[in-house]
Amino acid sequence: MAEVIDGKSVAEDVVSKVKALTAELSAKGATRPGLAVVIVGEDPASQVYVASKSRTAKECGFHSLQHTLPAETSEEQLLKIIGDLNADPSIHGILVQLPLPGHIDAGKVIQTIAPEKDVDGFHFINVGKLGTGELESAFVPCTPAGSMLLIQRVRGKDLSGLNAVVVGRSNIVGKPMANLLLAANCTVTIAHSRTKDLPALARTADILVAAVGRPEMIKGDWVKPGATVIDVGINRIPAPEKGEGKSRLVGDVVYAEAAGVAGAITPVPGGVGPMTIAMLMANTVASAYRAAGLKRPSF
Ligand code: GUN
Repeated sequence: MAEVIDGKSVAEDVVSKVKALTAELSAKGATRPGLAVVIVGEDPASQVYVASKSRTAKECGFHSLQHTLPAETSEEQLLKIIGDLNADPSIHGILVQLPLPGHIDAGKVIQTIAPEKDVDGFHFINVGKLGTGELESAFVPCTPAGSMLLIQRVRGKDLSGLNAVVVGRSNIVGKPMANLLLAANCTVTIAHSRTKDLPALARTADILVAAVGRPEMIKGDWVKPGATVIDVGINRIPAPEKGEGKSRLVGDVVYAEAAGVAGAITPVPGGVGPMTIAMLMANTVASAYRAAGLKRPSF
């Protein structure tokens, strides 16, 4: 059976380190890290995520600010708020929760966030830095950054000679994940819905990252024996066996099958999920260190 990669425990380690770094920053007389989270509209899943981000920020000792805006908020109003946060020296990280209502151009909103406060790593400047290997100063998107920490726990920092297959080509996960693996010397393939013979390709992967958002798409016999499997998917599916109207969370991988073949695997829930918020805290404390003219901590 595969080693189960405990994302909750690694995330707790990251949050502990962020707390200690925050205390050190205060001891040096610098401004404590400030994180502003902006949510527009009433999407229930987004509200849960945002509440959790704000709560963890407070737990880390951050100055935590949340703007909860009605769905009718205009793009102009939102851009004005971002402009004010960009200019506010008590704020080191700005996160605008996605998705945004249809009348707001999300791309424009993201590109308005000052790159040095873009703790989501979605601004072109940060995407470009990651793509060119400028990892020292880039903000890397939180989910792939967290996935990479889990991979390093199993495989070490240098992944030379390993084949990585990333299934999914989103800007939030697939593409930045592939760039991180490339920077760590993997041979990387990005697969997607148009890929020919995905099962055969997946079987070449020493590191297989599933980020498609399709429940249990990746079967056990797609996994190379001994592979490290990182399941980024969080899908809610009906679970009538638990009672009427009940549901359960599953990943993009058939966990029970893959765990019999893989060398190590992340569970869902409790794998990549907890890492996302932890890395948001890591990016925010790093931003505060840089703003204070101090060397940016690494995780
Ligand atoms: N919505 C789902 N995931 C994310 C994320 O990582 N960042 C933001 N801003 N919104 C999201």
